[in-house]
Amino acid sequence: MAHAARVMPGGNTRTTSFHPPYPVVIERADGAWLWDVDQRRYLDLFCNGLSLIHGNNYAPAREAMQAAIQRGTAWAGASHPQIAFAESLQDRIRAMQLVRFTNSGSEAGMLAVKAARHVTGRPYIVKSIGAYHGSYPDLEAGLYGQGDVEGRALVAPFNDLASFERVMALHGPKVAAIVIEPVLVTGRVVPPAPNFLSDLQSLARRHGALTILDDCLMLRLAVGGSAEYFSLTPDLVVLGKFLGGGTPLGVFGGSREIMRIFDPTQRGCVFHGGSFNGNPVGCSAGIVTLRDLTVDRIAAMDAAGLVIRRALAEHAAELGLDVVISGIGSVAGIAFAADPMRHEDDPSALGVAALFHLACLSEGILIGPGGIMSLSTAHNSEALAHATAGLSAALEKVAELLASLD
Ligand SMILES: Cc1ncc(COP(=O)(O)O)c(C=O)c1O
Repeated sequence: MAHAARVMPGGNTRTTSFHPPYPVVIERADGAWLWDVDQRRYLDLFCNGLSLIHGNNYAPAREAMQAAIQRGTAWAGASHPQIAFAESLQDRIRAMQLVRFTNSGSEAGMLAVKAARHVTGRPYIVKSIGAYHGSYPDLEAGLYGQGDVEGRALVAPFNDLASFERVMALHGPKVAAIVIEPVLVTGRVVPPAPNFLSDLQSLARRHGALTILDDCLMLRLAVGGSAEYFSLTPDLVVLGKFLGGGTPLGVFGGSREIMRIFDPTQRGCVFHGGSFNGNPVGCSAGIVTLRDLTVDRIAAMDAAGLVIRRALAEHAAELGLDVVISGIGSVAGIAFAADPMRHEDDPSALGVAALFHLACLSEGILIGPGGIMSLSTAHNSEALAHATAGLSAALEKVAELLASLD
């Protein structure tokens, strides 16, 4: 780690994966398991920030990539994998009539915002406090202790429709889009209140603004993603994370009418470059990754998510720990009442969640910093048994520690 800190600030190249005192140095990973450089094995309950839906080193994706690499890794032109992948997205996600590929979810979100501003001719976006959409300053409004971004982004609390209504009443004619993260997952897992998301969508429409659904994480909820799960009809959808089968790949898309602004055969088209957009390696991995994310596999992951949430809630209650266990589908979160701070507000903070995180590591489980957990289709009954036993033992360690401080 000292070696890493000589070449990267804090030895880290991704704030969202940092945890105190320093992250584990990982050597290899397979399925639901990871091994560090000291050959310690961990159950992967974070899946690279929810970005490995079939677990680590998923053989069909790896084989598709290996076959693609034989023919080259990227070129300035279309390719069969690119077209086939776009078709499979179009088949699954109704709102994606036309798509554009990017190299990350951040970039896809940024371009969806650019499209909304271009189409509406309006400057503002509106988003939820605490919603994470990647490393793009306008979409960082409402995070890391920041509020609005002057002239560009306005924020309101998640699950508080009245506050969004107030923002739109004041600024509606200048708002290009309401950007929705359907379930907050950064720091705390917060599912939406009934009808909150569809009410936001109606609010946007009433004011002539677009709805951008950031489904980077919640595509996992249904074959058609969270638009299907929550009965939404967004104007633009942003995807990333597990989409590229473990490779850096993002995409945004929407109606033909909106997306035609990027059509280079049209005069005055909106510019969108990217040397590796839709490269054949990522698209080949993405095709099999989506193909294998079936209704049955989603249901199995969701059932495993419920097992984890129940085990945590029951054991925490037995120990008298004041926690909120939340989640949806194959995602779970634990928040300790004693911790007012969200992880992303201060990644270096040593709160109770950070102690729980370290206790999990010593039980051979890697969860997300701040208490986020996710499953994949690779988490079988052996993995689940390891998870429930290890998470319970980690809760006991935290309870002992808290009792010793009283
Ligand atoms: C909801 C959401 N949107 C966008 C992003 C950004 O994606 P990337 O890390 O690929 O830039 C993330 C990453 O965590 C995310 O959770």
